[in-house]
Amino acid sequence: MTPEEKAPGTPPDWDSDWAAWAAAAKAEYPRAQSALMPFLHRVQARDGWLRPEALDAAARYLELPRQYVESVVSFYSLFRTEPTGHRTIHVCVSLSCALAGSDALLHNLEETLGIRVGQTTPDGSYTLLEAECLAACDLAPACQVNLRYVGPVPPERFQTLLEEEVPTREEA
Ligand code: FES
Repeated sequence: MTPEEKAPGTPPDWDSDWAAWAAAAKAEYPRAQSALMPFLHRVQARDGWLRPEALDAAARYLELPRQYVESVVSFYSLFRTEPTGHRTIHVCVSLSCALAGSDALLHNLEETLGIRVGQTTPDGSYTLLEAECLAACDLAPACQVNLRYVGPVPPERFQTLLEEEVPTREEA
């Protein structure tokens, strides 16, 4: 049974779920290297981050060197190797958004959540991250909540990001 076929709320069986996703990715792509990214995306979408054990599983089930898996994960900034909150907020800090107030927006979020950029609230509700241009400059200051675009979010409207109705990882 694939992880997707399990009844909602069934606790993950980490290793067998990873094995199933790796097998599915391998079946879709002719080379193991090509299957790595889809596998990592699927794992992170469900688990919120890439545990060291998930990287071990990628190497084992896709038959790739562990070092290669690590190099791919460290290259792409959207891959997370630390636990994330139920809602991950990305605030764009590139030029258009900086001119529209993204620094002040980040400051307001940090003050309200009691965390700094790169951290997760102690209750696991929010992770706050900076992002480079999100290719949504017309929404400056542009943000994403669980990768869903939100904007423009002027600094004083930071609460919008906390109240944004997006599916949590668990609901997605
Ligand atoms: S500069 Fe922020 S989305 Fe492009």
